[in-house]
This record gives sequence, C-alpha cells and structure tokens, in this order.
Amino acid sequence: MFGKLLGFNKKDNKVNFEFENGKGRVEVITPEIINVFSDMGTEERISRAFDNLEISPELKVEVEKEDEKVVISTGKIKAVVYDDFKVDFYDNLGKLLCEDYRGEREPFERLGNHGVAQGEGINVEEKAAEYKIQVAKTMLGDECFFGLGDKAGHLNKKGCYYEMWNTDDPSPHVESFKSLYKSIPFFITLREKASYGIFFDNTFKSYFDMGKENKKYFYFAANEGNLSYYFMYGPKVKEVLGEYTYLTGTTPLPQLWTLGYHQSRWSYFDEKKVTEIAENFRKKDIPCDTIHLDIDYMDGYRVFTWGKDKFPEPEKMLGKLKDEGFKIVTIIDPGVKKDKGYFMYDQGIENGYFATEKDGIPYVNEVWPGEALYPDFSDEPVRKWWAKSQKIMMDYGVAGIWNDMNEPASFKGPLPDDVQFKNDGHPTDHKEIHNVYGQLMSKATYEGIKESTNKRPFVITRACYAGIQKYSTVWTGDNHSFWEHLRMSIPQLLNLGLSGVAFAGSDVGGFQYDCTGELLSRWSQVGAFTPLFRNHSCIHSKSQEPWEFDKQTEDINRKYIKLRYKLLPYLYDLLWKSENTGLPIMRPLMLHYEDDKNTYEINDQFLCGENILVAPVVEQGKTHRALYLPEGNWVDYWTKEVVKGGKTILREAPLDTCPIYIKEGSIIPNYVEQSYVGEKEMDTLILDVYAGNGEYSHYLDDGESFNYRKGEYNLYEFKMSKENELTIDVNMVNDKYEKPYKNFKFNVNGVNPNAILVNGENIEFKATNNTVEFTIPSGNCNILVK
Ligand code: GLC
Repeated sequence: MFGKLLGFNKKDNKVNFEFENGKGRVEVITPEIINVFSDMGTEERISRAFDNLEISPELKVEVEKEDEKVVISTGKIKAVVYDDFKVDFYDNLGKLLCEDYRGEREPFERLGNHGVAQGEGINVEEKAAEYKIQVAKTMLGDECFFGLGDKAGHLNKKGCYYEMWNTDDPSPHVESFKSLYKSIPFFITLREKASYGIFFDNTFKSYFDMGKENKKYFYFAANEGNLSYYFMYGPKVKEVLGEYTYLTGTTPLPQLWTLGYHQSRWSYFDEKKVTEIAENFRKKDIPCDTIHLDIDYMDGYRVFTWGKDKFPEPEKMLGKLKDEGFKIVTIIDPGVKKDKGYFMYDQGIENGYFATEKDGIPYVNEVWPGEALYPDFSDEPVRKWWAKSQKIMMDYGVAGIWNDMNEPASFKGPLPDDVQFKNDGHPTDHKEIHNVYGQLMSKATYEGIKESTNKRPFVITRACYAGIQKYSTVWTGDNHSFWEHLRMSIPQLLNLGLSGVAFAGSDVGGFQYDCTGELLSRWSQVGAFTPLFRNHSCIHSKSQEPWEFDKQTEDINRKYIKLRYKLLPYLYDLLWKSENTGLPIMRPLMLHYEDDKNTYEINDQFLCGENILVAPVVEQGKTHRALYLPEGNWVDYWTKEVVKGGKTILREAPLDTCPIYIKEGSIIPNYVEQSYVGEKEMDTLILDVYAGNGEYSHYLDDGESFNYRKGEYNLYEFKMSKENELTIDVNMVNDKYEKPYKNFKFNVNGVNPNAILVNGENIEFKATNNTVEFTIPSGNCNILVK
C-alpha cells in the first residue's frame, strides 16, 4: 500500500519516511518504546489514553541505511523499516522479536453450504473483512497473547478474534463474544522467553485477530483514524507492563476503605432497606465498608437527584451510616432526562453540552429515565460541568461514584454513526468517540471528586478505553450467576490487570439469574483476593447478601470477608507498589514464572501479589482440585504443610476451603479483625512470616489523602534470611507519617526455636507446633530466631 521507500530524514527522536504512496514516521519514545505512525486521518497524534507523552530525555537514536532498509537503533532495540512501510523489530543481539507479515492475508476456507448453516441460524461470515489500516505480523512460533482488556474467554488469546467496540450486551457472556464493555487495544506477546507489547492507539472500532484467520499471522486493523501503534520491548512481561503504564499511566493508590467489602444490589429501594442491610452486617459480624445505591435512589432516574419519597433526608441517612462505618457509593449514568425544569437538562441545553445530530439539534435516545440526552464528554467545558456536578453528591456525603451505561448504552437502537461531538476542538462523530465516551466521563468524575473532596477519588466505571486506570476502577459488567462466569471472571480480571488496570472486580455472586449458596461461597472465596470485592445482583434475581441462603453460606462468607480484612495491609501495599510499577494485584502465574511454560495457560489459579497463590474451586459440586505449584516451596495457608513446587498436586477443598498457598520466604502483613476500615486504631502490625529467604516492603499512610505524594508515609523494609537460624532485619526507610505502629506482632511459621533475640537481647515468645509468636515494639531491629 505504501509502495517503495523513496527517502527518509531524522529529526531528534523521529525518523520520517517518504514512500511512493504516503508518509510514515518512526518515533523513539524511550529506548524500549517505539511509535510507528502514519497520518491517515489527522496529522497530529491525538491520544485519549494519555494527556502528555513523555519522551525520554537522553535518547540515543541512531539511523543507518543498509541496502533496501533503514535501521533505527535505540540502544535496546532496533526497528528496521522496508518498502511498503514494513517494520521489523529486533533485540540488541539481533534476535528477531516481531516481524511484519509480507504475504497477503489468506483467510481459511469455510467448508460446506453456507445457506444450510444460515438456515439453522448459524452466524456465517461470508467473506473476510478488509480494512483501510491493517498491520499483520508473522506468527513466529509458539506465541501466547495476553491483555486486550475485559474480553471473554481464556487467559491466552491465541487463535481468538476480537473487536474493540464498547458493547452492552445483557445476554450471557460467552467465549464467542467479540466485544464487551471496554476497549483496550493493547496486547502482550510472550514467545521464547521474550515478550513485547503492542498498543494500537486508535479509538475507532478496531479489530484484533490473534491467529484465528490463519496461523501464519496475527493482525490488528481499523477503518478510520491513524495508523499509530507503540511497540514495547520487555523482555520480561513485567517490563512490558511497566512500559505500557509509562505511556498510559498507572493505577493511583486508592483510599484504604475501598479495598474493604462492598455490598450492592439493583436496588436497595429505600432508606429502610439500606438501614436494614447495614444493620445486618454489624449484627451478623460480617465486615463491610461500602453500600452501593443503584438507579432507584434517584428522582425518576434524574442523575444528581434523590427520590425524596424513598430517601427523605439523604444527608442525615448518610451521616448515620457514616457513624456505623459505612460509605455510600451512588450510581450516575450519563443519560440526562429530557425534562424542562430539571437543572441538569436546562444547564446542558443552555450551554450546548449535549451531543447533537448533524444539524446541531441535541441527540435524543432512551435510557432509564425515558428520553435522554448524552453529555458530550469529549469537550473540556462539558467535562468541567460534569466534574463540578460531582460536588452535589459529595455534599450529601456520598463517598464514591459508580459510572454505568457509558458505552454509551441506549434502549432505542445504537447511537447513529453521525452523532456529533466537539472533541476538544477537533469536531468528529460517534464512531471516534464511542470507545472513549465512558473514559472521558470517568475522567471528569475523577477530577470533580478530587476537586471537591481533596481525597483520592473512588470511581467505578463499566466502559472505558486504554489508560482508564488513572481515573477509575472497573468491573466486568453484567455477568450471570453461572459457574461458568465465576470461572471466566478469573482470566478476565487477569487480562485486565495485564492491560494496565490494577484495580478491578466482577460482580461477586453474579448479576443476572439466581445465585445459590454454594456458588456465592465459592465466588466470595475468589472475591476476597480480587482488587475490587463487590457483591452485586440484578433486580428480580434472588437476593444474594451473605446471609440470604443458609448458615453454612453465611459462615463461609464471613470467613472469607474476614480474611480479606486481615489482608488489607498486604493489598494496600500491592496498590502502592502498583502506582509505581504498573503491576496488577491479581496476576497470572506466568507473570512471575515466565520461564515455566506450564503456567501460560492456567485459567483457574492466580497470584495475589507475588506471595499468595489462590486455587479456587470454580465448579459446582467439587470438593477437591488439582492445582499447579510453580518452582520453590509453598506453604499451605490452612495446614501450614510445606509443599515442594514444580508440580501438580491434588488438594481437598470442601466448600469452606479455598486452597491458598504462601510462597516460602514471604512476609505478609495483617491487621486484626475489624468490621470496617478505621473501626480500630491499628497500632500493631501483624507479620505473618513464612520462614525462608525473602524481602518485603510495607507501606503506611493516612489511607485517604494525597499527602503521601508529598512524602508523608512510612515505609518498613523487612529482610529475612534462613540458614541454620532465621534472621529478620527491620528497617524504617521513610518515617514521615505521623502515626507509626507501636508494635510488631510476629507469627513465624516453620520454626522451632530455643531462643529469640532482638538486637541481641532475649525476648519471650510463645511456641506451638512449628510456629512462634512474639510482640516487640516497632522500630529498626535485628531479630534472630535460634
Ligand atoms: C446495568 C449495570 C448494573 C446495574 C443496572 C441498573 O445493567 O451493569 O450493574 O445494576 O444497570 O443500574
């Protein structure tokens, strides 16, 4: 398509190419990140995934012409450009990493009589799609593909085909779904112990074929927008994620309470019901921090209002709940009711804030409130208006905002392609904005909450685009109370994590259909380790609060929700680390055991951080399971038995047991039991130690403000080594948070000591069965377990 390479010139970090039929550009962003660009729509590189692109200041870009090709070296990788704007990537040692496919696409032939198949209702694609922008890469061998956002199916996306087009489809999500709510056009390729990522930054509908059409190649494509993709080299998957989040941002540390348990339902219809739910949690001794109010709290589904017949005094209600430790999150959808006299509608009309038809008349479709208009979030003044409106909810005492239906969803057919958006001075239509509509709505919501509360905003969104992690947590939308959906939530959340979204969750118990006690028990066992832990269900479905089934279900839910609260400091540490590294909380085993191919296709186990391996039961009726432990020694969390890894084992897993393994050499911080975050002053940090060699950093701050960004936090470093004796060195490397712990309470597993010395002095300890317990004042020290 581009034709012969006619010439090129280098300007700073950019190399511009002239081809027979067009222009191309290769721009070095960092030594590991290269942008391949061709203007096919707008000359500028406009991104909705990031605001600023930071070019590495000390780049050394070398360009050489060799015969028919141009070689661009960054010091870490080489991009080699040929005729037709074909680009191949190599590592520094000359190993081929990624090669443009040179042949024509050859879709496999679908055999048989199409008509017959169609007659039975089978969906037959007559012919392979053609695209204006298409990049096909050679399948070099045993590539695995990860990422691509929230797509249905398995962890490894090899052989799959997807479309990026934010879609609200309420039917049960199955493997053959081409798209779901989110569009994150980014994937990671792992092959022969080297990985790279590709981010195709195009907000129009895009297409990803990971070797479905033909095993010789995989491709990504679109029909509009620019050709603009970023190649990112690892070689480790972790490093690729670091680069992707360098470009699109990391998940900022959330408020601590957001990591507690959330209870939701469409809907808790009135104040009485909300109060009853809250009281039940306390009465039944099940920890809970957050209750979500779905659409029925509003006055006729008018966003930013309360139905005063059901919630006569929202401030008072929220105040009372706050005293009990509950935070309230309210849903806000984008659709603004068409209703003269309703302030959001009037303000929007007066200022021209809504998306319009081609002739400038505000576009109307239908959502919950009936006829509704769509704020044009692609325009800065609209985002500012929406941001300012958040104050209305914050002033009532609402603690966070849940953004839904922002694909955008519509009840009267999809929004036509030509609905108009102002797009920050580059007017465009729905085709370009659709995939970023929810993203921009959440961005406005985040900024508004930040402005009015000065705390770390809590936003949840259903729809989004690449880079959402900067503004919002996400959930995987309307799943069903199916075992299959419990199982699928794991690879979905793992791939979201590998797409930069560290803070995510699925509706625990399932949204549509009716949950059972057994399913809820197993789902809460998974939920306890997912970053966002929210039980949510649909109107008309069976209630699924933890106590709604039988005593056993309630007990199991209590047990795992309490476990979650014990682990809060560990999860919070992971989120703090994530803000710096881009690493997710919930991780596929592959992320830490990349050299072990056995880990590449594990869909029903995951790591929570690096130290905890969770192997939940995701099948009805099962009371044991086979699970894979990677190399090293692993300690069974429940029995404390040490199991050698590098093999598959069989574990009993009665309904109240989720198999959990802790890596030998781990230090896991715990808090004492509490009913909600902040109920108790945490003056003692519990350290659950699994004797071995290892290091751990624990982070502490006020749990809500942005002061940590000014350095107001404490950081405790623990170094443990085990030979004949076990030593633990504790070092506080940052001490700017005014409330350090008073004590450390150690529970050391896997030791039988005669003596324990702290800074050379003998201390008292309690020993039971291969475990010791002792409490010491917090502070720098050397601990010797003899
Ligand atoms: C959508 C959401 C769901 C919510 C419902 C009513 O289906 O995905 O979570 O409960 O709308 O607001």
